[in-house]
Amino acid sequence: MSAVAAPQAENPLVAGLERLPVAATTLVIFGATGDLARRKLLPALYNLAHEGALPERFHLVGVARREKAHEDYRAECEEAIRQFSRTTPDPEVLKRLLEHVRYVPGTFDDEHVYSKVAEVLDDFDEHAQEPLNRLFYLSTAPTFFPVIVKALGEHGLCHHEGAEVRVIIEKPFGASLEEARSLNKIVLEVFDETQVFRIDHYLGKETVQNLLAFRFANGMFEPLWNRNYIDQVQITAAEDIGIGTRAGYYDHAGALRDLIQNHMLQLLCHVAMEPPVSFTADEVRNEKVKVLQAIDPLTEREIPGMAMRAQYGPGHSGGDDVPGYLEEQGIPSDSSTETYAALRLQVDNWRWAGVPFYLRTGKRLARQVTEIAVVLKPVPHLAFSDEGSLGVLPNQLIMTLQPNEGVSLRLGAKIPGTRMMIRPVHMEFLYGTSFLSQSPEAYERLITDAMRGDATLFTRDDEVEAQWRICDPILNEWAQHPGPLPQYEAGSQGPAQASEIMRPEHSWRAI
Ligand code: BG6
Repeated sequence: MSAVAAPQAENPLVAGLERLPVAATTLVIFGATGDLARRKLLPALYNLAHEGALPERFHLVGVARREKAHEDYRAECEEAIRQFSRTTPDPEVLKRLLEHVRYVPGTFDDEHVYSKVAEVLDDFDEHAQEPLNRLFYLSTAPTFFPVIVKALGEHGLCHHEGAEVRVIIEKPFGASLEEARSLNKIVLEVFDETQVFRIDHYLGKETVQNLLAFRFANGMFEPLWNRNYIDQVQITAAEDIGIGTRAGYYDHAGALRDLIQNHMLQLLCHVAMEPPVSFTADEVRNEKVKVLQAIDPLTEREIPGMAMRAQYGPGHSGGDDVPGYLEEQGIPSDSSTETYAALRLQVDNWRWAGVPFYLRTGKRLARQVTEIAVVLKPVPHLAFSDEGSLGVLPNQLIMTLQPNEGVSLRLGAKIPGTRMMIRPVHMEFLYGTSFLSQSPEAYERLITDAMRGDATLFTRDDEVEAQWRICDPILNEWAQHPGPLPQYEAGSQGPAQASEIMRPEHSWRAI
């Protein structure tokens, strides 16, 4: 199957959003020398500059602990962009971007930092002879989120006469429902919800947005998209990488907090939500929250049969021997942090009652793949002879988010020949071949949306709390039973025990 790309302007999902202007902005990144800033944020800014998507007046202020001159920070920005940009930097564009970069050194709990930031911001405004919008990006360790937010409030940086002030807060947004609530409280004492942009970078991925286009711009799926035709949904986020240098963070987080609480529950929402009345931030988020509210948190009795966790042991990855989680640098040898988690959830509403949603994620699995598989019920009656029926499998719609972005539909087809024999075949749409263009990085879309003030692709306060409400009981139960966890070999399909949470008639797709 080949798809012809329709002109963007005709797509009702993006029309409107794209028309919101990006006003002149000063972006302040707290944690400006960290991994995220270097790998994602700075390259995203460069690519936006390259595409002419930044406002004409755009300034960047980097805030981080170490003392350094503006020039040195600019050189670091350049190096990060050269190393991590998805396109080869154009020297002219890079030079113009870096000319508008300043650096403010200091620790985030030091009051002087905020006065210095205020001075730089005022300086830019004076130069522009108008108040510029301000966007604060909290790309620090999560312990600093409340510290920075409070300080911005105390220094009056949460409002700016004649311009907009917004704040982007990175994940994780709390490590439990209680923490998320208390962080929301602190944030909303300083900012209004319309100023707050909680990032879940999955929402910025083209393919995640395409899920909505796929469901709501095509009439053919809606009649099937319910419990009458759908047997199960499997959402997989498998990674072949280990924890790399993130031991400090990861050992406190684990797979459930790191991927399921945010990214995977968002994917579930996109599959299960009702069509929103319009694609405005609140309409879309209202529908997602309704899905999360329809998921009853698992009870203590249900957890062992519907949630499981495991840890990777030693094995092979990319042809190399790799250590197990407990042998990774910085991980205590008795850690009970899960690197694999799988859940069975029920969305108890009219559309989905009785359809299991299976979610699984893990590090150091056989390959990297993020996909959603919607498995339809088998046909009610097979008219073929016993032999001919052997290859008949239920239809499956597979939406692959990465690495080979696209959609594939599994159908049964007759094998050519004199006999009536059936075999599964796939109708495929691949992003790469249909659109012949490279998708922008999630952060490019999200940074411009935040500059525009469009929060559709960001999580709202009640949404993030609803996500924690689902994960909290499982985390609490697991915390009470630390014990040694089941192990799976690095580079494998994951733990055999993962199938124990499924209904007997179901099994996981191969990774
Ligand atoms: C991050 C997690 O949020 O998402 C990482 O902290 C994970 O552990 C990453 O590797 C996956 O994102 P992506 O975009 O590579 O699928």
